[in-house]
Amino acid sequence: MAPVLDVRELSVGYGGVDALHQVSLRVERDETVGVLGANGAGKTTLVNALAGVLGASAGRVAFDGEDVTSLTPERRARKGLSLVRQGRSVFHHMTVQENLDMGAYLVREAAQVRTRLEAVFAMFPVLAERRRQLAGAMSGGEQKMLEIARSLMLPLKLLMLDEPSLGLAPRMLEAIFEKIPALNRAGTAVLLVEQNALAALAVSTRAYVMELGRIRREDRSERLVNDAEVRARYLGVGPS
Ligand SMILES: Nc1ncnc2c1ncn2[C@@H]1O[C@H](COP(=O)(O)OP(=O)(O)OP(=O)(O)O)[C@@H](O)[C@H]1O
Ligand SMILES: [Mg+2]
Repeated sequence: MAPVLDVRELSVGYGGVDALHQVSLRVERDETVGVLGANGAGKTTLVNALAGVLGASAGRVAFDGEDVTSLTPERRARKGLSLVRQGRSVFHHMTVQENLDMGAYLVREAAQVRTRLEAVFAMFPVLAERRRQLAGAMSGGEQKMLEIARSLMLPLKLLMLDEPSLGLAPRMLEAIFEKIPALNRAGTAVLLVEQNALAALAVSTRAYVMELGRIRREDRSERLVNDAEVRARYLGVGPS
C-alpha cells in the first residue's frame, strides 16, 4: 500500500524567499514519525504546508495515494489529514463540548459524532469531566488534549502535532504522548514535530532531522537516540 504521506522535493517560501528547500519525506500507515530540529529549522513551515495553510513553491505532496498539493486545508481535512498547530488554539469562550462540536463540523451523521465523542472522552477522561467548562479556564495541558481531541472528531489517517510539548509539565507531556500508540493501532499515523527530541524519539519508529529548511538526517529513532552527533546537538547529552 502507498504510504499515507509521501512528500517529494517540497519547497515553501515566504514572500518569494524559500524557507523550506526540496524536502522529501514519507509516513507509512499507522506509523509515528518524528521531525526534530532547532528553532527556525523549518518544522512549522513544513507542517503548515502539509496542512495546506501555506502554498508550495515547488514539489509535490501525496496523501493517501492522491496528489493534494493544491488542495485547501478543508479539503485535506475531509480526506483525513489534520494539524494541531504550535501554541494554543482552543476557542477560549466556548465550552469543551462546543470546541469538540466545532471539530466535527465536517461530519454529517449525528450518530457518527456521538461515536467519535465517546472515543475522545475515553481517551481523555478529563475532557468528559469538564465538558461544560469554558475551554479557556483549563490548564495548558488540558487545552492541548482538547486540541488533539478536536482534531480526532474527524476520522483521521494522519494527525500532525507541532510541538505539543511546548510549555507543558513533564507529567502532562507523558499523559499526551502515551496516547500515541493507541492512535496508531486505531489506524491514525502521527507526524510529531518536537524540540523535545528525546520524547519524540521514544514514541516514534523513524525520525527526520531538519536544519536550515532542509532534511539533514533520516533514520530509525532507536539509532538516532544513540547517535553521537544527534545526542550532542539535539539531546544535549554526551555519547551513550
Ligand atoms: N510568517 C513568516 N514570514 C517570514 N518568514 C518566516 C515566517 N514564519 C517563519 N519564517 C522563517 O522561516 C524559517 C523557518 O521557521 P519555522 O517557524 O518553520 O521554524 P521552526 O523549526 O518551526 O522553529 P520553532 O522551533 O521556533 O518553532 C525561519 O527562518 C523563520 O524566520
Ligand atoms: Mg515551529
